[in-house]
Amino acid sequence: MNGLRDKVVVCTGAGRRSGLGAAILHRMAAEGCRVVVTDLGQPDALLNSDDIGGVDEMDAVVADIKELGAECIGVACDVRRQDAVRNLFDVTCDAFGRVDILVNNAGVGYLMRGFQDVSLEEWQLVLDVNLTGAFLCAQEAAARMIKAEQGGRIVNIASQAAKSGFPHLAAYVASKHGLVGLTRSNAIELAEHGITVNAVCPNHVTTGLGAKQNAYYSKLRGQTLEEFMAAMRDRIPLGRPGTPADTAAAVAFLASDDAAYITGEALNVSGGEEMH
Ligand SMILES: NC(=O)c1ccc[n+]([C@@H]2O[C@H](COP(=O)([O-])OP(=O)(O)OC[C@H]3O[C@@H](n4cnc5c(N)ncnc54)[C@H](O)[C@@H]3O)[C@@H](O)[C@H]2O)c1
Repeated sequence: MNGLRDKVVVCTGAGRRSGLGAAILHRMAAEGCRVVVTDLGQPDALLNSDDIGGVDEMDAVVADIKELGAECIGVACDVRRQDAVRNLFDVTCDAFGRVDILVNNAGVGYLMRGFQDVSLEEWQLVLDVNLTGAFLCAQEAAARMIKAEQGGRIVNIASQAAKSGFPHLAAYVASKHGLVGLTRSNAIELAEHGITVNAVCPNHVTTGLGAKQNAYYSKLRGQTLEEFMAAMRDRIPLGRPGTPADTAAAVAFLASDDAAYITGEALNVSGGEEMH
């Protein structure tokens, strides 16, 4: 990809080895970027400790990326906290002098239950991480990009759930639709500064989060996991679910100079399953 060498990229929610964030940063490191891995780092009251990127796993992601020869640091950051988000970009600018690319990848998709049973606390957690977190990070990153007068890229990891409804995921679907709205609005306001803002909308990817969704939905439908996955492959025109590398490739493209004239888009990476 053109124009990525030495660019400084921050990706939130990237502290899990099997997650989309780590795959995105591996690809960006391979493209010559300098890399900031950030994740929640500590357990949260409503999330299982194995559902979040803790500090040890985040350190492992940093070590993996350094092994590729890239400059890389790790910074714990809860994207719901404005002070933590400010600190993330302060530390980034102290380490690398600037921020060129923000990938808003942090997300909570584990809270699956029928709409009538969702508590206000759970609803707010999902909206706070998936939507407000992206807003806070974009605001802080854009302020630094505007000051540096070098343009920039913001890529929001939305979902197929940003285009279509899914049962038992009301807060998630609402947050991802909202993220596309934020993408479009920010794209208009930041264009004059040479900052493009786009979203990527993957369909199913079997990450830690994806595996939990498969287990939940197969049980809900009375199917074995194998039957559920076979039905998924059957309805996807390209015949397979997505991989982390598929999403990473789309992010690298949107972050590159090759996508300089693309902004405000919500790009499906879904093997043809989602077409609008
Ligand atoms: N896996 C899929 O099928 C799929 C499909 C479409 C979109 N997505 C989106 O891709 C992104 C990454 O998902 P994934 O599948 O890699 O799952 P994942 O659980 O591995 O990644 C989500 C990350 O967000 C982090 N996070 C949660 N709360 C946070 C907070 N308050 N502050 C900072 N980080 C926080 C978690 O610690 C975790 O590392 C999410 O936004 C998800 O909605 C995933």
